[in-house]
Amino acid sequence: MKKLYGVIGYPVGHSMSPTMHNDAFGRLNMEAYYHAFEIVPEKFAAAVEGLKAVDISGFNVTVPYKVKIMDFLDEVDPLAKAIGAVNTVVNENGRFIGYNTDGEGYVTSLLQALNEADLKKRRVLIIGAGGAARAIYFTLATYKDAPHQIDLCNRTAEKAKDLIADNPASAVSAALSIEEAEASLQQYDIIVNTTSVGMHPHIENTPLQLHHVRKGALVSDIIYNPLETRLLKDAKNQGAFIQNGIGMFVMQGALAFEKWTGKRPDIKAMEAIVLSRLQNQKDK
Ligand code: ATR
Repeated sequence: MKKLYGVIGYPVGHSMSPTMHNDAFGRLNMEAYYHAFEIVPEKFAAAVEGLKAVDISGFNVTVPYKVKIMDFLDEVDPLAKAIGAVNTVVNENGRFIGYNTDGEGYVTSLLQALNEADLKKRRVLIIGAGGAARAIYFTLATYKDAPHQIDLCNRTAEKAKDLIADNPASAVSAALSIEEAEASLQQYDIIVNTTSVGMHPHIENTPLQLHHVRKGALVSDIIYNPLETRLLKDAKNQGAFIQNGIGMFVMQGALAFEKWTGKRPDIKAMEAIVLSRLQNQKDK
């Protein structure tokens, strides 16, 4: 029988995950299907019970349910627990096990962009202190070759401080205001925006002024709509390397796919299909 996978969220109409995963199943000749389930908040508990009843093999969880789902799982992986959010659920013999592949997806895509296996000598600045920052910061800090320093800056500096205090791993970290970060950008090798500032339709906004960014630094944005945010445009103009959010999106999906199936999908093909979906949406 065809295996069932999916994503739950509200809304999920624009999710690119079904296209990406169904294409990957096809390439591996797998009898499997991935569906986007839009679940209204009042029906959330019933829906999760329903997914268990139909013995769904695995699913992704997206906005606004990444935190809420945790109360409905039989087990949560320690890193996902520390992050406080689950984006991937695996059905293991009828038990729902929760993981978070967002942070690992980001770190894997970062290593690919740097073409390196080691972050030990790097100094990293994370912009933001919300859910995405939490996933990326904790995953970077627990990575076996963690960066030398991981600082955080946020509009509300207090939240960056709280995030550092919550970090389950040991890391050299400081909480900065946006202005302090802007003035000391010279010292960072990697700068990553985890906020939604600059996302469509507010594409003129940027979370940070890059006047002091070092030439040759990597500026990375987890946003992929637009593919080149104002932050990345500014970074390019300053002679920095850039990375957009496609890599993270694809890798979080690929890591989920591997957890569900034990098979490694074709990442290049996944990336191509996501890019063509984005292009189609733009043309409409
Ligand atoms: P997510 O789960 O996507 O990370 P979130 O938890 O709501 O979303 O976090 C949003 C992050 O973007 C926060 O760091 C937020 O800054 P504050 O903590 O000061 O609210 C940041 N953010 C959102 N809109 C912003 C804006 N207009 N200017 C600066 N930072 C913004």
